[in-house]
Amino acid sequence: MQNANNILINCDNLVKIYKIAELEVVALQGLDLTVERGEMVGIVGASGSGKTTLLNILGGLDRPSAGRVTVDGQDLLKLSDAALNRYRRKKVGFVWQQTSRNLIPYLTAQENVKLPMTVAGMSRREKRAWARELLQAVGLYQRRKHRLVQLSGGEQQRVAIAAALANKPILLLADEPTGEVDSATAQTILETFQRLNETLGLTTIIVTHEPGIVGQVDRVVAIRDGRTSTETIRQVSQLEQAMVGEHPVEEEDVTYHEYVVLDSAGRLQVPREYLEQLDIGDRATLEVTEEGILIRPVAGRQAAAAPLLPGLEEEELPAPRRRGLRGLWARVRRGR
Ligand SMILES: Nc1ncnc2c1ncn2[C@@H]1O[C@H](COP(=O)(O)OP(=O)(O)O)[C@@H](O)[C@H]1O
Ligand SMILES: [Mg+2]
Repeated sequence: MQNANNILINCDNLVKIYKIAELEVVALQGLDLTVERGEMVGIVGASGSGKTTLLNILGGLDRPSAGRVTVDGQDLLKLSDAALNRYRRKKVGFVWQQTSRNLIPYLTAQENVKLPMTVAGMSRREKRAWARELLQAVGLYQRRKHRLVQLSGGEQQRVAIAAALANKPILLLADEPTGEVDSATAQTILETFQRLNETLGLTTIIVTHEPGIVGQVDRVVAIRDGRTSTETIRQVSQLEQAMVGEHPVEEEDVTYHEYVVLDSAGRLQVPREYLEQLDIGDRATLEVTEEGILIRPVAGRQAAAAPLLPGLEEEELPAPRRRGLRGLWARVRRGR
């Protein structure tokens, strides 16, 4: 599926441990992730699962404790502090949840977008042209002279996106950019990311809780307890693919497949609810069948837990209640 020459990001067994006094918090525990150039990836996961930690590492704001991370051919672990700073300034754009972290409230939209260009040492002419292009791309050129406080939350976030691109980055990282706006505004913000991804071919990673994200990116990666657990991939039917260019792809021809991720050592995360439904504890049996690999509870675990009546065969015990298993592998979502 992925072409080795076209890979922008490769995280291999990434580990991040925060130490506060005597306490150690494992924020990433062996995370694997590959992102192609030009891809638009959504990241989802419960609070505390390690999403921000991952973005900080990819953006050169933080260093992993172990593992490997390469971006655009640069091994971020091997870079000196100065080189890592250079990497961040030249190659990465950030959009944060709080607009206050992105922008200066008393400056105009245009001034906010130009400020990082001044820092980067661009000429006046270059600044004017690039700021204009960016403000047009986010649909705010008409409002370029408005001060930030005169813009709505969604507009401010779009200014933040333009400002994040001031340094012409190759990678755009957004940490919950839709966290503080209503869902209609969130849609406009996500559409802005989509348009930039399409027109500039900009590799984009967005952490979000928007339920519709799966319909707006190429791939959604779910992180659980500091590791990638599943990926949902948008797939266009083969018939549609054959007709590409003749007419736009209809949403009905797109399906979403959720796959469980296996790392290079063959490890995967079984969803907790599946383990609970089948009463699987810390051991299970694996069997290769015609259908695939079957994970079964250890025989006798149920019987040992239930008090056995004398003379009652194990088979006669009521079978554990089976709620409809929404098979990860079988689950195919249509539409949004
Ligand atoms: N600077 C830090 N110091 C100590 N612990 C941290 C720090 N940043 C994050 N953590 C811990 O690491 C884990 C992952 O955090 P984070 O990456 O912020 O998760 P998310 O963005 O998915 O909510 C959490 O348990 C969090 O408390
Ligand atoms: Mg976070």
